[in-house]
Amino acid sequence: MISDKRIAIKFFVVVLSCVFVTGDAEVRCIESEREALLSFKKGLINKYSILSSWRSDECCKWYGVECSNTTAHVIALDLRGANLRGKIGSSLLELHHLTHLDLSRNDFGGIPIPKFIGSMKQLQYLSLWGSHFSGSIPNHLVNLTNLRSLVLGENDFGGIPIPEFISSMKQLQHLSLWNSNFLGIVPPRLGNLTNLRTLHLSQNDFVTIPPQLWNLTNLCSLDLSFNSLSSISLSGFVLESLEILDLSYNQLNGSIPDMGTFSSLIELQLSVNNFAGSIPLSIGQLSKLQVLDLSSNSLEGLVSKSHFMKLHKLKKLDLSFNPLLNLDIAPDWSPPFQLSDISLIRCNVGPYFPKWIRTQRSFAYLDVRGANIRDEAPTWLWSTSSLLVSISLSGNQISGTIPNLSSTSILYMDVSYNQFSGPIPLLPAYASEILLSGNMFSGSISSICKTRHRDLQYLDLSNNQLTGEVPDCWEKMPILQSLNLANNSFSGEIPPSFGNLEELVALQMHGNDLFGELPYSMRLCQNLILIDLGGNMLTGEIPIWIDQLDGVKILNLRGNKLHGSIPTKICNITVYIDVLDLSLNNLSSIIPDCFNNFSALASKDPTGFYTSLFAPTDNINGSKHYGYSSFQWKGKESEYWDNLEFLKLIDFSSNRLTGNIPKSFSSMRGLRSLNLSRNSLTGYIIPDIGKMEMLDSLDLSHNQLSGNIPTSLARIYTLGFLDLSNNNLSGKIPTGTQLQSFNASAYAKNDGLCGNPLPKCPGESLRPSTTDPVENMDEKDGNILSFMQEVAISMVFGFIFGFWGVVGSFILKKSWRIAFFNMFDAAGDWLYVRVALFVSKWRRS
Ligand SMILES: *[C@@H]1O[C@H](CO)[C@@H](O)[C@H](O)[C@H]1NC(C)=O
Ligand SMILES: *[C@@H]1O[C@H](CO)[C@@H](O)[C@H](O)[C@H]1NC(C)=O
Ligand SMILES: *[C@@H]1O[C@H](CO)[C@@H](O)[C@H](O)[C@H]1NC(C)=O
Ligand SMILES: *[C@@H]1O[C@H](CO)[C@@H](O)[C@H](O)[C@H]1NC(C)=O
Ligand SMILES: *[C@@H]1O[C@H](CO)[C@@H](O)[C@H](O)[C@H]1NC(C)=O
Ligand SMILES: *[C@@H]1O[C@H](CO)[C@@H](O)[C@H](O)[C@H]1NC(C)=O
Ligand SMILES: *[C@@H]1O[C@H](CO)[C@@H](O)[C@H](O)[C@H]1NC(C)=O
Ligand SMILES: *[C@@H]1O[C@H](CO)[C@@H](O)[C@H](O)[C@H]1NC(C)=O
Ligand SMILES: *[C@@H]1O[C@H](CO)[C@@H](O)[C@H](O)[C@H]1NC(C)=O
Ligand SMILES: *[C@@H]1O[C@H](CO)[C@@H](O)[C@H](O)[C@H]1NC(C)=O
Ligand SMILES: *[C@@H]1O[C@H](CO)[C@@H](O)[C@H](O)[C@H]1NC(C)=O
Ligand SMILES: *[C@@H]1O[C@H](CO)[C@@H](O)[C@H](O)[C@H]1NC(C)=O
Repeated sequence: MISDKRIAIKFFVVVLSCVFVTGDAEVRCIESEREALLSFKKGLINKYSILSSWRSDECCKWYGVECSNTTAHVIALDLRGANLRGKIGSSLLELHHLTHLDLSRNDFGGIPIPKFIGSMKQLQYLSLWGSHFSGSIPNHLVNLTNLRSLVLGENDFGGIPIPEFISSMKQLQHLSLWNSNFLGIVPPRLGNLTNLRTLHLSQNDFVTIPPQLWNLTNLCSLDLSFNSLSSISLSGFVLESLEILDLSYNQLNGSIPDMGTFSSLIELQLSVNNFAGSIPLSIGQLSKLQVLDLSSNSLEGLVSKSHFMKLHKLKKLDLSFNPLLNLDIAPDWSPPFQLSDISLIRCNVGPYFPKWIRTQRSFAYLDVRGANIRDEAPTWLWSTSSLLVSISLSGNQISGTIPNLSSTSILYMDVSYNQFSGPIPLLPAYASEILLSGNMFSGSISSICKTRHRDLQYLDLSNNQLTGEVPDCWEKMPILQSLNLANNSFSGEIPPSFGNLEELVALQMHGNDLFGELPYSMRLCQNLILIDLGGNMLTGEIPIWIDQLDGVKILNLRGNKLHGSIPTKICNITVYIDVLDLSLNNLSSIIPDCFNNFSALASKDPTGFYTSLFAPTDNINGSKHYGYSSFQWKGKESEYWDNLEFLKLIDFSSNRLTGNIPKSFSSMRGLRSLNLSRNSLTGYIIPDIGKMEMLDSLDLSHNQLSGNIPTSLARIYTLGFLDLSNNNLSGKIPTGTQLQSFNASAYAKNDGLCGNPLPKCPGESLRPSTTDPVENMDEKDGNILSFMQEVAISMVFGFIFGFWGVVGSFILKKSWRIAFFNMFDAAGDWLYVRVALFVSKWRRS
């Protein structure tokens, strides 16, 4: 997706700079050509009536049609992006003077490129990109020897090499074949196209660049990004006219070649390759260079002033993700350039804050995440560029306080995981994302009420030392989507103005000292997906209006002082719920038997969180935090960040719940972790517990469950943690590899359990059929259980909260991991596009 956008944007630049379609003129339409156009229109499905003007006599004034001023012949037909479908009629052949044909960005439904186009010998410009053509490229195009521009990108030509005949189109100046599933080698004969000025072959699967390409001495733009190129040899070639060279996203290795002969370069993109060694000094001689992107390679060594010697025009510098690159440039360095984008993520920029940034008066974008800076933030940082739009400093050890930012132009600010202290600053008035997590900010946050933040969507103040009440002015942030106040020392009640946050998706306030009941107004936050209020001192009952928040996926109320029963209304928020954690409260009475309605938990697929809606923070590794929450998994209190969406968990442990385990639990076939321990549950373990076949962790310990262990439990092959101890269970532990692999402690302190891993049962003959667990046991369990007594003993547990310190790891299965990274790529693209958009918007204005 990144690449599509990049390429589309790049392509438009080419189109704009290389093609001129002049306006209408006062000439009379030629009747035969009018007929031809009408006949062409007949074949098309013109859904959005774009061709409604194609009716009048004067066809030269029709949409997309251009006639010659002098002869009145139709010379250009430009129907790009016209949402056309249907058939491309050969009546176009009647337009003998047509030199410019653009049918790009329509949808021709996978048909091959029509052969008749090859007979339009007079064509100079042909663009069919992104119009859903497929199949092979017809040889008939070989006769288009007058073509200056051929644009066929973003179609699916089904894994063929570039047709040889293209290299006989001697006049070609622009050839664009990106993202069209071409593979193999770039034909060396393209080196014969000596008039080529642009060659765009990105997003195919080419493995080598033939040296003949470097003979294209008129080339001004070469894009080979997103291929599988592994080596490049430039020595001996002189490419004086090349302005844009994009080799990013390949597997190029070795050192970056000498760039001395590329004296016209404006843009050099070498990111995401395997380039090693030091940056060649010849780059510093590229006096026209505006964009230098060497990010995500394995470059090393010291970056010195000489590397930038003549880069007077440089605007964008990206050396990110070269962890061995050292940018410790002398503090008095006065660079020759004025940058707009500075990106030095995960290079060694520190230990001191780079002073040369002070000379940059107009940068919009500064990103020095994880750049080993251990220094106080200079006061000029916030004011040196009045155009600052985006600043990311996270994952360093930057200290100091942050001044009043209310009148800055900052839209995006991430200073998380540093050592900033003092009060939180007055926030930039028009910011949309502010991330201050993991610092030492202290005191009250009532200052956020001073101004309206009409654009604020993400506010993360978690993991600081903030105190006082949560302010009651949330109506001033009307489009807030994600609020994280977790792990601070906020006290008081949850203020009612939260009810104004209609867009709120994620609310995280765990690990504070909040008390009182959930405000009634919260029922109005109907977009909530993640509610994490664990580890506070909230009282009252679980509100019955909870059913109004029916989009919730994660509801975490663990470790509070909630009492009363679990309301049956909870069964009305079941469609999306993945995580329901009510543990460590004072809940009593029986568990409602309505878990057959939990559709997300009944599904075995990861439900695909709307993760990009949560704080889209790039963390110091360039990946994302979606906000996090803290749950118990396999006995460990764990924090879940990006992997939240893979969690399917029910935890009612450490309450005072009574009665049976509801039969409907077995419907939750996708559940991964179930913890009902430390309650007063009675009765038997539901016989078809084995239907929860994704279960990884099951804790039913410390209850008064009786009867046998159902044999179906032995069928849960994914089970990695089991605790049935401290119950009244009896009988033989069902055999099967799974249940025998657990420690004896998993079964300890029961009435009469026996068999591996516990000591042998005294009279094995009493239960002969247990050797065949898969077949028959459900009924048998039922019979045995039918005479079981249900004993209710109420137990009061002290409860515990505040275990927020233990970080465990959640080891995903491989398939999940793949899904996860796919998701995270998609979200990365989303952020990339957003940032790119607003930076470019800002530039234009
Ligand atoms: C045709 O008309 C356009 C403006 O309508 C003008 O720019 C162009 O030079 C004209 N071409 C010729 C060949 O007269
Ligand atoms: C190209 O044009 C020549 C002469 O006009 C013709 O003989 C030949 O068949 C054409 N080739 C194709 C592939 O259409
Ligand atoms: C095109 O280039 C190849 C080598 O790359 C050469 O053998 C061939 O003669 C050239 N063809 C023409 C028509 O120049
Ligand atoms: C490049 O062109 C020169 C002369 O035009 C020729 O001698 C040389 O062989 C060509 N190189 C390649 C790799 O085609
Ligand atoms: C570069 O990659 C190629 C192909 O993968 C390999 O043969 C070559 O040894 C590599 N060179 C270096 C310097 O790593
Ligand atoms: C913060 O800056 C704004 C704009 O410059 C100003 O109006 C406001 O009074 C300042 N606030 C404080 C507390 O300094
Ligand atoms: C909570 O915040 C403190 C800083 O106030 C930090 O040291 C601690 O690691 C944070 N805890 C978690 C679980 O992030
Ligand atoms: C759930 O909501 C429906 C209608 O919205 C209502 O009829 C039903 O009684 C509710 N069920 C529970 C358990 O609250
Ligand atoms: C738990 O709730 C009961 C009432 O349901 C109350 O009597 C008891 O004090 C509560 N226990 C704690 C520790 O708050
Ligand atoms: C729950 O599911 C049952 C059928 O399985 C259905 O009759 C009932 O209406 C559902 N309840 C809710 C609240 O969706
Ligand atoms: C970042 O990457 C490093 C090394 O690859 C790893 O040790 C660290 O845990 C990562 N940190 C985060 C927050 O992902
Ligand atoms: C279940 O919850 C209790 C406390 O509520 C905890 O001690 C236990 O470790 C949890 N079990 C698992 C498997 O996480």
